Amino acid sequence: MNVILTVLLLAIGMNVQTWAVSVVPTKPIVCGQCDPNKCSMTLDKECLAGLSLDVCGCCQVCAQRERELCDHPDVSSAKKYGSCGENLECRIRSGTKTHQEASCECTDQIELCGSDGKTYRNYCHLMESAKLAKAEQKSIIKVSKRKPCDSPPEITVPPVNVVNQTGSNVFLSCEVAGVPLPVVEWIYQATNGKTIVYPTDDDRISTLVRGGPNAHVLTSWLQIQALQSTDQGVYTCIATNALGKSEKTAYVKVESRHDL
Ligand SMILES: *[C@@H]1O[C@H](CO)[C@@H](O)[C@H](O)[C@H]1NC(C)=O
Repeated sequence: MNVILTVLLLAIGMNVQTWAVSVVPTKPIVCGQCDPNKCSMTLDKECLAGLSLDVCGCCQVCAQRERELCDHPDVSSAKKYGSCGENLECRIRSGTKTHQEASCECTDQIELCGSDGKTYRNYCHLMESAKLAKAEQKSIIKVSKRKPCDSPPEITVPPVNVVNQTGSNVFLSCEVAGVPLPVVEWIYQATNGKTIVYPTDDDRISTLVRGGPNAHVLTSWLQIQALQSTDQGVYTCIATNALGKSEKTAYVKVESRHDL
């Protein structure tokens, strides 16, 4: 009698084990018959991307989140990861030919402004934060508009001081971020108090603007060609948009050739 009971318990024990999502990479997963009563309880609020069924299609488990690996029919893998959660789709990542991977990507990739005033890279990112806020009993986060939140200019990479000799070419750069995209001006202040605002029609000192490296970021350069001693002074990068203004300065020191 005792022996039979032990064998039975062992059998149940083994069964329970097969239901636990296997994380052993090489061991193939053996799915027994599904008994929902044997599933451990997983609540939707515990899972940032919602619930999905485990790799055996039996118990509810946390779904894979954005950028987590997932099981794609065209990617052969000994390891099973599970399904993607809400608003996510399992897509093949560009990998090597021999080693491909698939990960969960958000089906709605538009940048959003949340009711908390923060910009989210996509809908899934916002929904994860919303779920977290709810779990922590903070104020709820909703989509306030389908574009990034407005933000005042911020100088993310300020210009740096330059020392160079007369006749050389000098670049000052200023990377700014903001929504709407700021307008950048440069102000030159000479030691004698004279000021000049660039851009001007001066063809020796010019400005150049380019968007990037990221969205809502632009880089402005002030180029001084054939540096003269009268170019010495303080140069200020000023970024302005509807929400405000930000500025950073750099010093240009000019050395005469015969000083060296
Ligand atoms: C100084 O001038 C030289 C020659 O024009 C240029 O190659 C170099 O990048 C300049 N250095 C700086 C720090 O601007």
